[in-house]
This record gives sequence, C-alpha cells and structure tokens, in this order.
Amino acid sequence: MICDNISVKDGVLYFAGANTVELAKEYKTPLYLMDENKIRNNCRVYLNAMNKYFGANAMPLYASKAASFKKIYEIMKDEGMGIDVVSSGEIYTALKAGFNLKNAYFHSNNKTDEDINFAMENGVGYFVVDNKEELDAINQIAKERSLTQSILLRLTPGIDTHTYEAVNTGKVDSKFGTAIETGQAEKMVEYTLTLSNIKLCGFHCHIGSQVFESDTFIRGSKIMLEFIATVKAKFGFVTEQLDLGGGYGVRYLDSHPTIDIADNIRQVAECIKSTAAELNIEIPKILLEPGRSIVADAGMTLYTVGTVKEITGYKNYTSIDGGMTDNPRFALYGSPYTILPASRMNDTADFVSDVVGRCCESGDIIQKDVTLPKAKRGDILAVCTTGAYNYSMASNYNRITRPAVVMIKDTKPYVAVKRESLEYLTENDI
Ligand code: LLP
Repeated sequence: MICDNISVKDGVLYFAGANTVELAKEYKTPLYLMDENKIRNNCRVYLNAMNKYFGANAMPLYASKAASFKKIYEIMKDEGMGIDVVSSGEIYTALKAGFNLKNAYFHSNNKTDEDINFAMENGVGYFVVDNKEELDAINQIAKERSLTQSILLRLTPGIDTHTYEAVNTGKVDSKFGTAIETGQAEKMVEYTLTLSNIKLCGFHCHIGSQVFESDTFIRGSKIMLEFIATVKAKFGFVTEQLDLGGGYGVRYLDSHPTIDIADNIRQVAECIKSTAAELNIEIPKILLEPGRSIVADAGMTLYTVGTVKEITGYKNYTSIDGGMTDNPRFALYGSPYTILPASRMNDTADFVSDVVGRCCESGDIIQKDVTLPKAKRGDILAVCTTGAYNYSMASNYNRITRPAVVMIKDTKPYVAVKRESLEYLTENDI
C-alpha cells in the first residue's frame, strides 16, 4: 500500500484503522479524513531528528499553509512544534486554537499593513521579511507601536531543484526573497542593521516543495552558511537562527521513493557542522519548515461515484461528487494521485477512465487514465495522500460547499471541521 495507515479487510478499505465505507455512510461524501496519530508521528520524526543532529535548540516549524484549521494548531502546540504562518487568517486560526505565537514565523512576500499590525498586536515572534519595502513598513509600524520586532531575512540561494515550476522557489528570479547572487542580500543586511526597531536574528531560505534529492538541502545550507560567514566578516553580524525552509517530498504513487527524513536531517547536519568549522563561524539555531511531509500521508479523501460515461471508441469518465473544489492539484499542477475503490478492493481492476469532478469545467479532473473495477453509482472511491494542500486550497467554485474534515484518533473518528452548509454560502451576501 502507498502508506502504512492503509489496509484492506473483506474487500473494504481501512484508513487509520477505520472502515472507510462506514465513514462515508456516517459523515457523507466528499469527506476529508485525517489520521491524528500519523500527524503526531510525522512531527516526532522531525522533533527527534532535529534534536539529535542539530542540537536541543533546533525546532521544526509546521508550515500551516499545508492544512490550516484549529485542531491542527492544537496538535502542533501539543507536540511542541513551532509554526509558519502566511496570513492574518492563519494567525487568527492559530490564536483561536490557543497556540502561543512566540514560536510563530510570519511569512509572505507581500504583508499588508493590516497583516503587520495584526501580527504585532498578537505577539507573533518572528517576521520572515521578503524585501526592502516590507522591511521599511515593519520598522515603521514597530516604531509606532514602540516595540522592536525580531525578524529573519528571506534569501534566495539560487538553487534550481527538480520539482514542478509552481513550487520551485529558490531560484534567483523567484518572486520570493532577496537574491544572494546579485549582491542585494548583502545590501539588505547592511541596511537592516541600521534600522531602529528591527532586531535581525538570522536568515531563511526555502528552495522548493515536493523535493526528493537530499543534496538540494545540503547545497542550500552551504550557500547560506557562506553568506553568514560573509556578513560576519563584513558587518560583524553574528547569525542566531538559520531557517532552511520546508520541502521534503511525499509518496503520491507507489513508484515514488520513500524519503528517510531523519537520515536526511543527519546528512544536512553533518554538512552544516563541517562547513561551519571550515568557515570558522558559530552554528546558529536551525529551523526547518515542513508542511507536506507532516500532513500529506495523514490524509485521504472519500467520494461517491455518480455517473460512469463510456464514449465508444474514445474514452471513459467516472464522475464523483467532489472535484477541483476540494482538490485542485491535478488541475493546477497535473499532480499524480493514487485512487482506490474503497468499497470493492477485491474486485478486478479492468476499466480505464478519467476520474472527474462535478464542476462546470472540463479541467475539473482528479486523475486521468485510472484503472479501477468499473464503478457503479454509489460506489466509494478513495484518493490517497490528500492531507496537504487539499483542504487548504479548497474553494466554493460553483457554490459547492467544502467537505467536512474527520480526524481519526486510535481508530475512532471525530469531526475536526464541519461540512459547510448552504446557509454558510450566503452568509456574507448582502
Ligand atoms: N516554507 C515556505 C516558506 C514555503 O513557501 C513552503 C511551501 C513551506 C515551507 C512548506 O513546504 P512543504 O514542506 O509543504 O513542501 N500548493 C502547492 C505547494 C505550495 C508550497 C508553497 N510553499 C502544492 O499543492 O503542491
């Protein structure tokens, strides 16, 4: 199976030890499932490995753009994770979950004045500053509020990694961060150090997402350490924190490799230790920002099949009761997914079709050319590895309500996010 929290009993698919057909019946479909134990275990892999290899002060920050709702922040608080937030909405949700924002790092390439004020008002620990305009705005607002804001500067190390374009962010020509290669990053440091209401704590980079090569992170950390050595030599600036971003890839298909995250962290730590020694610099507190690798394999989406259309001599379509509104990732990136016939796991898979949603748009596809037992109206299909960037990217296109999120803890389900109601859809309409 694609993940160790998936199993089959009497032809029925089980997820996190719970019967998916029963769950579909009880909670209706489309339905997001999330495996709480898996989320916690994924956090612990980072917590233990970072502690072991980077030292006790290292900290993983959960990149909450991957899946943001109150229960997730409660789990992060419980596990001792920090968080990466990118909007007032994520900050608000974390606050509502009782998350202490001193370990929150506020990202985004274009924080509005409202965002900056909201984050400062609520004591967000660190701003990860993307560019000079933003830096000036943060300094100004901090001055008005008579406080000193701790920040990291987001830098682009100039690394082009092997992933899809939308998430390849470490390149010099990225919309994110300030480039090292062009000399602009160095100037930014010099300038930041002159600002009255900013405390520069260190640097951040995020090279890309769904990355499988460990050398991407090794190359990234080397470039960042060289930069840290340069600013130490030029400005006497001692870097307290180095945040290497997120990005470890997950398995959407059986053919995808499994990443040993702990071993990758070990390799990065070795490189950091030897490079820091060569450059004669102190090793800063190391942060990582995993999102996908914390929640992706903790998720599964269940759908009910409606129409099965066979266009003789052309192709077949299996239509489900969700689609690009709850999972836009094939439409956006052509992302692969594994789809399983939850209610008919022992039947012969001999029918090839595109599994499509119910939106008025022909790009509304979950996956093309999927081989399954020929479905009947009412069958349940499961899409695996949907815990990251599905619920958080869902929309109300066609005024379709967003599904519920049902968490499973120790095989017992509970509702973490309610299904949206039709009334909810018109709540803001005047
Ligand atoms: N840190 C920063 C600054 C980021 O921009 C991201 C992801 C992360 C951490 C977490 O990366 P992860 O560990 O999840 O790979 N919607 C796209 C993914 C966008 C990722 C954006 N940034 C998708 O569905 O594939």
